[in-house]
Amino acid sequence: MKILAIESSCDETAVALVKDGRHILAEQVASQIAVHKTYGGVVPEIASRLHVETISALIDETLAQGQWTWQDVDAVAATRGPGLVGALLVGLTAGKTLAYALDKPFIPANHMEGHIAANYLAHPQLEPPFLSLVVSGGHTYLLEVKSYGAYAILGQTYDDAAGEAFDKVARVMGLPYPGGPQIDRLSVEGNATAVDLPRVMLEKGSLDFSFSGLKTAALNAWNHASQKNTPIPVEDMAASFQQAILDVLVDKTMMAAEKTKRRVITLSGGVSANEGLRRAMQKACDERGYTLYYPPRALCTDNAAMIGSAAYYQYRYGSIEDDGVDPNLGL
Ligand code: KG4
Ligand code: ZN
Repeated sequence: MKILAIESSCDETAVALVKDGRHILAEQVASQIAVHKTYGGVVPEIASRLHVETISALIDETLAQGQWTWQDVDAVAATRGPGLVGALLVGLTAGKTLAYALDKPFIPANHMEGHIAANYLAHPQLEPPFLSLVVSGGHTYLLEVKSYGAYAILGQTYDDAAGEAFDKVARVMGLPYPGGPQIDRLSVEGNATAVDLPRVMLEKGSLDFSFSGLKTAALNAWNHASQKNTPIPVEDMAASFQQAILDVLVDKTMMAAEKTKRRVITLSGGVSANEGLRRAMQKACDERGYTLYYPPRALCTDNAAMIGSAAYYQYRYGSIEDDGVDPNLGL
């Protein structure tokens, strides 16, 4: 089954043709980052407008990439949420219109299920059940994937998402948007013990996260040092902040593995592109004999192939509402 999938929840317009949830036949991503960079973050109205300007040509280019035709498309999928409501509406409207015109099923897909499914595209042997850490710009979830489309949420963030914390701290450090990759790059040269930052674990045994205290502590340390004319080297700040986030993400994931007895773990979402996180999680998994999967970088950040994969499993195992599909901002 070949699904034409559209992703437009934030600042990437993306289209892909995905076969049986596992094979990428064609894909295109048009990033808006260069435009939003000027404002230091994503401007929702601009994101929606750029999606409108880009989406039709991108669908044509995706099909042209493999000389696919409309006859090759068995179903159309688009991200339903969570995301920016105006941005989601563009992809949803394009997808629903196309499905109607082609007389094919329309599959509304969940963005977070998409992030989880990115690993199905990268790792043919991966099958549920497994434990999954999803860390993106808007969400932080530790969950158990019990079977295709069946999830049990074990923990989530009380406040900032992991990626959001990276971006906010990077912004105060004067680094361009998005800050996560910048902190990742700089941290390699820095001393991770240079700045003393908290590891917020919440109550004993909790698998939830809270990054806002860490973010405030990092910002205070940075500002106090600047005011005293003893600025912290950017590399040291980046390394210390990144280490504090990684320690919590790795510790909680290992706690969740112990609690659920799952020995297969997946990592996904934009922050899973982080080199330090990949290395630290791999080390923790190796020490315990767990198997770790994470996608290649291009499938960590937002893309439409992951939406095509999630949509396939939803079509096979879930329920599909056939009309009145509106943006849905929850998980
Ligand atoms: O999954 P994603 O593309 O979009 C959302 O669904 O939010 O994630 C974007 C987030 C941004 O906060 C970005 O700074 C972060 O992922 N990110 C990283 C890295 N690459 C992207 N964070 C840390 N290290 C990276 N290498
Ligand atoms: Zn995302």
